[in-house]
Amino acid sequence: MTSFKPGPLSDTNLREADLPSGTLRVLQITDTHLYADPVGTLLGINTLESFRQVIQHFRDFHWPLDLLLATGDLVHDASPQGYGLIAEMLGSFDVPVFCLPGNHDAPQEMRRHLRGNLVRTDSVIDHGDWRFIMLDSVIPGQEGGHLARDQLGLLDSALASTERHTFVCLHHQPVAIGSAWIDTMAVSNPEPFFEIIDRHDHVRGVLWGHVHQTYDVLRNNVRLMASPSTCVQFAPGVDTFQVDEEPPGFRMLALLPNGSIRSEVIRINDIPHGLEYASPGY
Ligand SMILES: [Fe+2]
Repeated sequence: MTSFKPGPLSDTNLREADLPSGTLRVLQITDTHLYADPVGTLLGINTLESFRQVIQHFRDFHWPLDLLLATGDLVHDASPQGYGLIAEMLGSFDVPVFCLPGNHDAPQEMRRHLRGNLVRTDSVIDHGDWRFIMLDSVIPGQEGGHLARDQLGLLDSALASTERHTFVCLHHQPVAIGSAWIDTMAVSNPEPFFEIIDRHDHVRGVLWGHVHQTYDVLRNNVRLMASPSTCVQFAPGVDTFQVDEEPPGFRMLALLPNGSIRSEVIRINDIPHGLEYASPGY
């Protein structure tokens, strides 16, 4: 039987001194929505400037980092210039960065541009005691998501070929998060996804973007998490589109050698200038 219970929304024990040796320190960045034009705005926010503020805020914490996961909608207008910008900015973290596409991305363009030594689009990554599986849930030309047969096959084989603790990442939410408008744009076939997850008891977490808000529950002891965008936030628990009055942010994850996860969502102090609260959509 499937069980759900709320996960801890904010763990407080992410201090470096409290993390056992061998812990992987991972940063999730999601939904940066950059444009070719560096003054491009989404719902009134300059997305490049907002991302810069998020990066600065992260740096101010002095949290050492092993790995960065970028979970889609990296570029809003699918432009080569936008991918050049995101490659440069993600590369500035100076750790391995793994990216997957969202519905606003152009997956092929993205893969062409993110082929550096540090910023990449690998599907399966082993790091320390952990494996990361990066899935592509994009349906070309549509806002909603789907896991095609090849992605489900990749998930199953990448889980079967390791005994490492495993983290699965994708762009679209594989469960309804309780906002009717965005839940129409979830993964359309969660059943085979969870059938595979349920067959492999070394899956520890599932992480996504797309919903521009925090989500954190335990499903059969697998932690399911979504995270704020680095620009605009969507209000939780509403049936129609509504901008949220929360600042941009990111998620930090401490992945322990014993397979446990500690995580915290961090936001910058202020909402960037220009946000159009009353917008009926985006
Ligand atoms: Fe997005």
